[in-house]
Amino acid sequence: MESKREKFSSGLTVFLATLSSAVGLGNIWMFPYVTGKNGGAAFIIIYLICVVLVGMPVLISEFIIGRGTRKNVYGAISTITNKKKFKSIGVIAILATYSLLFFYTVVVGWVYSYVFKALVGSFKGVTLEQASNIFNTTSAGAISSIIWQFIAVAVGGAILVLGVKGGIEKLTKTLMPVLVILLVVCAFTSLTLPGSMEGVKFLIKPDFSKVHIGVVLSALGLAFFKLSVGTGTMITYGSYYTDDNNLIATASKVAISDTIVSLLAGLAIFPAVFSFGMEPSSGPGLLFNTVPLIFSKMPGGWILSIIFFLLTSMAATMAMISLLEVLIVFFNEELKIERKKAVIINIIIITIIGSLAALSGNPNGVLGNKLIFGKTFFDLFDLLVSKVFLPVNGFLIILLVGYFANKKFVNDQLTNNGTLNNEKIANALIFIMKYIAPVLIVVVFLKSFI
Ligand code: PHE
Repeated sequence: MESKREKFSSGLTVFLATLSSAVGLGNIWMFPYVTGKNGGAAFIIIYLICVVLVGMPVLISEFIIGRGTRKNVYGAISTITNKKKFKSIGVIAILATYSLLFFYTVVVGWVYSYVFKALVGSFKGVTLEQASNIFNTTSAGAISSIIWQFIAVAVGGAILVLGVKGGIEKLTKTLMPVLVILLVVCAFTSLTLPGSMEGVKFLIKPDFSKVHIGVVLSALGLAFFKLSVGTGTMITYGSYYTDDNNLIATASKVAISDTIVSLLAGLAIFPAVFSFGMEPSSGPGLLFNTVPLIFSKMPGGWILSIIFFLLTSMAATMAMISLLEVLIVFFNEELKIERKKAVIINIIIITIIGSLAALSGNPNGVLGNKLIFGKTFFDLFDLLVSKVFLPVNGFLIILLVGYFANKKFVNDQLTNNGTLNNEKIANALIFIMKYIAPVLIVVVFLKSFI
């Protein structure tokens, strides 16, 4: 029943697989629109601080828990502690994973549908108005949005049935660099548009006068979302790590590469946003309204737009797979449900509940005006994830590793049983884990709710 646990095959695969979970819609879709909503440069600075002082320490903590126990998120936590309040980490992780998937798969569906739109040439010579119409018909249509979401989940499930190695490793190896090159091309084109310098200013000239605690909470939530922590994803991936992998180095490389991709996406999108006179704070449609316009201004834009949406959909798919993997391994190891069955059950759950998000991703959608606590379902799942589940779980995880887990266990994981000779870095990290990261999370969290 329980399938034999696999391991990633090499250090490079560990890095690429982890990166493929981190890089996704968070960089290309969410980072630009959340930055736009929160005023630009000042938000980015706060975000970077959150990544270094909170995101990375939590990421490394998840690796420690995962590799140290080689279990699914729930099993891993139970192995490390029997304190009730920490056992909730596993439960929150599963809830967070579902809530995240409910809306993430909607956007993955939008991106898939944009691949086809690019293919048939829908973006050729589009105007601002046409681009926004295309986005509206994509995201507000009742049947189309549900079907695209279903296709997204089903594709993820199908890849997973092939197993950890076959599924994840092959896809990751070659695609990332091509996506980065395309983002650079987009950024260059975007920068040559008239009036684009306003967009650059927006990205590099901080205006701290508009920063309030809500902005900081958004930055913290985005840092967690970006690094895929708080959902148990990195515990699960950590459980496949090789014994000789340097956890701190891997986390640093992943965080740096991931941040570069986000910044490139910002540099591709904001100059165009300002050049076309669009609202930087216009929300989740930002990517879909701008990118077709950028490509329509480029020689060879048609082919490049196809490649861009294809690669974005692949990056999004791999991030989605890393979330599904959390659930499948949990079903397999804790509920003793075989992999294939677990995949099918989860495809059904996500499509049914996720359809609430699919129908409300656009304010003109069927459920676009059905509000709960003043939020659409789509926004509610997003808010629950980014502002509640991830920060709370990040806090519990770092507390567990910093204070309650066996010290030798933590040290052995950080130094690979003393073979790495990195005691100084490890000690500095433990200091941040104990005294800086948890304090920051608590202050931001409490301040924004009280
Ligand atoms: N980090 C992914 C992205 O940026 C999203 C994600 C979050 C994936 C949490 C797994 C877990 O798209």
